[in-house]
Amino acid sequence: MLTDVRGYPIDTENAAAAAAFDQAIARFFEFRLDAPALADLAIEADPNCALAQMTKAFMLLGAQSRRLLPVVAEHVAAAERSGAGRHPRARGWLAGLKALNANDLPRAAAAFRAHLTDWPRDLFIMKQMQQQTLFWRGLSLELRDSMLRVRHAWDESVPGYAHYLGLLAFGYEEAGDYVAAERAGRACVERAPDDIWGIHSVAHVLEMQGRHREGIAWMDYPADAWADRAPLARHLWWHKSLFHWDSGDYEGALALLDRSIYPEPTALYIDIQNAAALLWRLEFAGVDVGDRWRVLAEQAETVLDDQMLGFTDSHIAVTLARAGRGEALARHRQVLAERADSGGWAAALTAEATLPVADAIHAYCNGDYDRAVEGLLAVREEWSRLGGSHAQRDLYAQALIDSAVKAGRTTLAEALLAERSALHPTSRGVAYWRAQLAA
Ligand SMILES: [Fe+2]
Repeated sequence: MLTDVRGYPIDTENAAAAAAFDQAIARFFEFRLDAPALADLAIEADPNCALAQMTKAFMLLGAQSRRLLPVVAEHVAAAERSGAGRHPRARGWLAGLKALNANDLPRAAAAFRAHLTDWPRDLFIMKQMQQQTLFWRGLSLELRDSMLRVRHAWDESVPGYAHYLGLLAFGYEEAGDYVAAERAGRACVERAPDDIWGIHSVAHVLEMQGRHREGIAWMDYPADAWADRAPLARHLWWHKSLFHWDSGDYEGALALLDRSIYPEPTALYIDIQNAAALLWRLEFAGVDVGDRWRVLAEQAETVLDDQMLGFTDSHIAVTLARAGRGEALARHRQVLAERADSGGWAAALTAEATLPVADAIHAYCNGDYDRAVEGLLAVREEWSRLGGSHAQRDLYAQALIDSAVKAGRTTLAEALLAERSALHPTSRGVAYWRAQLAA
């Protein structure tokens, strides 16, 4: 049996399949668009390589689209036919993959947690665990701790060490350990300048610490720097736009939106998240965003029943509502209501977090700011369950502040702004809302 670049067994005797498997994962960690094609190459070389089949399946799941689940299921079936359940390494992959394909993220996390205890250098599964099962559930501390539990297996001599540092950095950042996060993130990028996740981890630190000028300098890359790295590239530009927004440079943020964040219509989940999150922030600051909601809503309408993530659904809700798409909004709500009734982990999440947040957003967009305040406050402790980062979920906190200000709920708005000015003392948003409140 052949081994991968970190010495772990691959269930193939075909050298071309093994080489393509390693390359697919290496390219995946640079967010290169050709990573799935390399997984296909490994499958082509040996269709009975379960790990190759599952590598492709995990990559497909990364698109967060229900329409792809049948294709994922075909790869799962192929992996099972190849004996993935009996292979010492592949069986952990299979357990996690099947749970993910059933949209049972807690069960997937448990499978990956068990797998990584025995295979702590299984870099691809570390990424699947962090991104798919922890990040999208908002489990800030476990994002860090899961990476600390494998730390004993990593040092400079292990291929991909820089990528490990990038994952660790993001875990530290979400857990609030900003000094450790920045150190690990910069160490990642020094070793692997193409690890754009490392760049992203440091950007998060700079955002959370309100270091906006440093953030703009950190993201000082040519417009085409990450041309073959979409969609994370567009999320990186979104981060840069936040530094502009926090600095009060709304024109700069809008220019980035048009140039790099949402340069052309797309319905990919992360593009909807990025664009909606920036457009709403700009509107909170009083910026006229033209007909950009309409362009985004036309895309969102094509995928309103296709989402895996409550976080995306909340952004679809605001997009449709801001664009005045009443009929689509009603259809979207119906989709969420049916999902909330369907049973299991995802149903509970939809019922207890996604739907109430979406309804509060509708209320805001209808001008019923009191109801928006009540709706958002009622599920304040559930926001994190929708997943995403602190920087992304900040949108809900901003929506609550804006609702309180617009509803004339002065004492609540003052309390929320006291909180915000402590957490984001350098953000211009605080001053803007204070001025609104005083007017
Ligand atoms: Fe981010």
